[in-house]
Amino acid sequence: MADQNLMEKIVSLAKRRGFVFPGSEIYGGLAGTYDYGPLGTLLQENVKQLWFRMFVEERNAKKDGDMYPLDAAILMNPKVWEASGHVQTFADPLADGKMFNTMFKTSVGAGTEVSTVYLRPETAGGIFTNFKNVVDSMHPYMPFGIAQVGKAFRNEIAPRDFIFRLRELKQMEVEYFVNPKDWEKAFEEWRRTMHCFAEVAGLSKEKVHELEVPDGKRAHYSKRTIDFEFDFPFGRSELWGLAYRTDFDLSAHAEASNVAFTYLDEETKEKFVPHVIEPSLGVDRTILALLVSAYREDELGGEKRTYLSLSARIAPIKAMVSPLLRNKQALVDTAQEIHSTLRKIHPWIVWDDNGNIGKRYRRQDEIGTPFCVTIDFDTLGETPSLKNTVTLRHRDTGEQERLTVPEVVERIRTAIE
Ligand code: GAP
Repeated sequence: MADQNLMEKIVSLAKRRGFVFPGSEIYGGLAGTYDYGPLGTLLQENVKQLWFRMFVEERNAKKDGDMYPLDAAILMNPKVWEASGHVQTFADPLADGKMFNTMFKTSVGAGTEVSTVYLRPETAGGIFTNFKNVVDSMHPYMPFGIAQVGKAFRNEIAPRDFIFRLRELKQMEVEYFVNPKDWEKAFEEWRRTMHCFAEVAGLSKEKVHELEVPDGKRAHYSKRTIDFEFDFPFGRSELWGLAYRTDFDLSAHAEASNVAFTYLDEETKEKFVPHVIEPSLGVDRTILALLVSAYREDELGGEKRTYLSLSARIAPIKAMVSPLLRNKQALVDTAQEIHSTLRKIHPWIVWDDNGNIGKRYRRQDEIGTPFCVTIDFDTLGETPSLKNTVTLRHRDTGEQERLTVPEVVERIRTAIE
């Protein structure tokens, strides 16, 4: 069910607390573009890092690691998008029925040397065109995958719903190359990885749903697609996609470029054009789904509060350290020492001595900081049995524990890892 109120609260929090700002805001904005503020940038980095860890590094921890990272150019020879079918079919219907190609055009060169190129509509293009380069340079065994995260551009006719439908977006994509007879096994494997990523990142499990996309509704290159849908405040919509792209792309590029994209299996001597399984995840939609999953309102100590229940791994700020009072030098000195000890665990363990302690806690709650560490007179030895201990406050419950600094270090480290 649509919940416009929740969406407005999330958009407002995102702007007020430095997660996401409207693009070019001082000039009235530019539809379909948003800028990530300091906390949004950190949140986004954590999402990308988690994706990279689960989709690339953890697979490579096994003896037969099978993932290769790539960072291809956004501007590509326009023949790429002719061969891939995007020039012909990457279009949305306009109100008057005329089809409108949603690829952005720009030009390269000057004078008589000008030619039209496209901003890539999906990061996948650069992966397919580098297939042979990766095979020749890295000699991977089949099956193997190439992973890329980066920007893509789509001239969406109706950008909408905050960072849900953008004109400049980010994707985290894997093209996984398999022997055609093995495609179903790989499809199931990536399907599990996507669910696992959703869970570890902290998306509400009950809000994630699979949709088997029926014939006639899939992208032109896909023989099977599962959309991972999410219950956004404006309704259930596509979050990520998992597609079986067959040999559509490699065969199309082979034909158009005259470069062979066959793979020779040295062991079996089998020669074939690999088929492709593609888990494709939008960064921006993941961020929105995370904010929706984490947004909470409750009452704590008789006061209403808003907090983001982000996992410690994903939260932009891991902990806040503060002296109970900012005008007591002994407290500040000890707190600063403890802050520098804790910062060794993670660079985003911050200092805050602004306003009273209750206000500091509320500010951190609202941006999803899982821990607050407070240094008070007992830390200095006012109650001898509590000397050198600090208060560790937990965001979701507001509960406070009295711990030694090494115990706090252990708690935070374990939560982040
Ligand atoms: N390479 C496959 C591909 O691009 P897609 O379903 O068109 O497939 C994949 O896009 C993912 O990229 C989507 O599931 C979504 O997360 C994200 N995405 C697509 N268009 C978007 C847009 N206009 N704004 C934000 N994210 C978008």
